[in-house]
Amino acid sequence: MQHREEQHNIHELMQARWSPRSFSSELLTQEQIESLFQAARWAASSGNGQPWRFVYATSDQQKDFQRLVSLLDEGNAIWAKNAPFLMVVFSKTERDNGKLHPGHLYDTGLAMGQFCLQATAMGLQVHQMGGFAMDKANEALQVPSEYQPIAMAVVGHPAPFTLLPTQELQTREQTKSTRKPLQETVHMGTWKGGYQELT
Ligand SMILES: Cc1cc2nc3c(=O)[nH]c(=O)nc-3n(C[C@H](O)[C@H](O)[C@H](O)COP(=O)(O)O)c2cc1C
Repeated sequence: MQHREEQHNIHELMQARWSPRSFSSELLTQEQIESLFQAARWAASSGNGQPWRFVYATSDQQKDFQRLVSLLDEGNAIWAKNAPFLMVVFSKTERDNGKLHPGHLYDTGLAMGQFCLQATAMGLQVHQMGGFAMDKANEALQVPSEYQPIAMAVVGHPAPFTLLPTQELQTREQTKSTRKPLQETVHMGTWKGGYQELT
């Protein structure tokens, strides 16, 4: 199934990326895991500061894995707990010289964009989640307070939607993803400048 409306002039990798909820329990190999973090590592960042930090666990290490699952909101945990890989994305709020770094979230988002596309290129998918206990993540994972929890993410091989535990989740899994038209998000020249899409 195509999970988004057909788009013109974008790379097939971006066309193929989506955020499933149904994942097989097949573990990622250590090589796959390292490729994902290498992809994130080579992202551009302001001053090459690389503020992203990741704490992950795999489902064969149940104690570590369940610690991460317990941070998720119920609506995410119900499906995310079946994936083989789970992580929390943190971002360093200060530059290495101790000065505040207002742009750190931008850098960490770029790194996650690369992480996601690398996953798709390897036949995997990522589902990022903002629905988790951000106020508990640092303490639970022993992460120093200058690192801000941003998102959680599962990674795995997508599985048939029929494996999802509720009808609502199965319906959502089959719903095609849409986007705002470029006219709404792109401006030529000034804010008042319009944009005419070719397609
Ligand atoms: C920062 C962030 C937070 C998100 N939080 C959640 C979440 O808590 N639960 C969820 O099911 N999906 C979550 N998503 C997934 C988005 O809903 C999804 O990316 C969006 O609907 C577009 O669909 P697509 O990724 O399949 O193209 C999140 C995505 C991002 C980037």
